[in-house]
Amino acid sequence: MTKTSGPIKQAVPSDSAPDDTSAKDVKAEEEEHKRMLERYAESQKIISKYSVMPTKCSDYMTILHRINSDNTSDAHRPKQPLVLKRISDSYTEAYLPFKEDLELREAYINSYGEIRIGKLLEDLDRLAGAIAYKHASDANGELAPIVFVTAAVDRIDLKAALSPNRNYRLAGTVTYVGYSSMEICIRVQAVAEPGEAAELEPNLVARFTMVGRDKDTGKSSQVNPLLLEDDSQRRLVKISEQIKEFKKTVTQANLYKRPPSEEERLVIHQLWLETNKLLDDGYGPRPVLPDDMVWMGRTTMQSVTVCFPSERNVHNKIFGGYLMRLAHELSFANGSVLTQSRPSYISLDDFSFQKPVNIGSILKLTSQVVYSEPENKTFQVAVSADVIDNIQNSTERTNTFYFNFSCPNGRVPRVVPRTYKQMMKFLEGRRRAQTGKLISKLQSEMQH
Ligand SMILES: CC(C)(COP(=O)(O)OP(=O)(O)OC[C@H]1O[C@@H](n2cnc3c(N)ncnc32)[C@H](O)[C@@H]1OP(=O)(O)O)[C@@H](O)C(=O)NCCC(=O)NCCS
Repeated sequence: MTKTSGPIKQAVPSDSAPDDTSAKDVKAEEEEHKRMLERYAESQKIISKYSVMPTKCSDYMTILHRINSDNTSDAHRPKQPLVLKRISDSYTEAYLPFKEDLELREAYINSYGEIRIGKLLEDLDRLAGAIAYKHASDANGELAPIVFVTAAVDRIDLKAALSPNRNYRLAGTVTYVGYSSMEICIRVQAVAEPGEAAELEPNLVARFTMVGRDKDTGKSSQVNPLLLEDDSQRRLVKISEQIKEFKKTVTQANLYKRPPSEEERLVIHQLWLETNKLLDDGYGPRPVLPDDMVWMGRTTMQSVTVCFPSERNVHNKIFGGYLMRLAHELSFANGSVLTQSRPSYISLDDFSFQKPVNIGSILKLTSQVVYSEPENKTFQVAVSADVIDNIQNSTERTNTFYFNFSCPNGRVPRVVPRTYKQMMKFLEGRRRAQTGKLISKLQSEMQH
């Protein structure tokens, strides 16, 4: 799945089988290993055909030419006819054969000997792109003159930790099509081993919204409609519509557009009453915040990255999966400092990529713990992505990610907002924690 994965290597040579393993078991294991490698190679071919990553350029000037060129020359070409597509037509799978490929495993492992979630986020975005391109392909499966961007991630739920000692399948399809947008569901499951049920419960479930833009004009481009074949597929689309509608309601209630609800006003007023006495008014001894509380303003952490062409996607913008990985790693670092422990990723909440990040941009990521539930040992980290314009000396926000973590063995303090702006961040975090749970529930319904 990864761009850097090297040739397949056999992790366990057949002659290293334990002495008491029968010849039959060894043979079955070898056959399974061979089958896994064949499936991996086959899936890689499909992913490459519908790849969101550019083909490698042999010379540097070609990259610059593509980045700077004005591709409007084909803008008047005739429209490509639409093709009615089945849900199954877009089915695409990718493999992470950690057991079979030591180089791959090495690239994905973290210092705790577990799988790096950030790397997986990149893979999910890449697969979502491949699924979108496959769905939008013509009747012969050839690429349409459309480019896809990741408009939003509705939710990525980690249901069970991934092990570096297993092989995983990432598989997904389109589950809903609008005019130019489509929703894509992906599940990550361990590949069943001999003696296990053929279909194991997913370790991770993800949901993306991809939007089609005309390759030459950059305008909204209609994508192939979906042919629904039975009631279960109609149900799938219905749940997708429900989630879309729900997201719309949440967007309308955005705190930048509307004041907090009556219930939320009471929440922040109560917070203000509780924390007011903890503020330093300049007289008498300085109040000390209890150990189980932390000011939100003290939980900020930043990073700055220069966006190199190596992280570009097919339409010469910075690949969304890469941005998700950077943001996740910063949020993890922030959470580790907060809890003085090792937090575990639970989910990535609904967010939109509002603007693309250009190659060469200076990207500033700012993370802050905006909400916590000490009683559940969970907390939420918001990571804002801003592009710094060094010439104009200004910054522009492209999006904000919201990561949820748990830390059963660490300290999860109560995060306390102090200013009105922080109160709004707290309410936004609280809302997301609530809506995220609902989307996650609807998503689970889709899996059955
Ligand atoms: C995604 C993007 C093209 C949408 O721009 P826009 O001006 O809102 O586009 P439009 O109003 O033409 O809407 C196009 C479609 O996208 C959908 N859409 C836009 N934003 C969305 C969001 N946040 N969530 C879900 N759908 C969204 C609209 O509903 C519409 O769907 P429809 O055609 O099926 O009805 C724009 O915000 C963008 O370029 N974002 C950056 C994308 C990016 O860089 N991603 C990471 C790298 S790939």
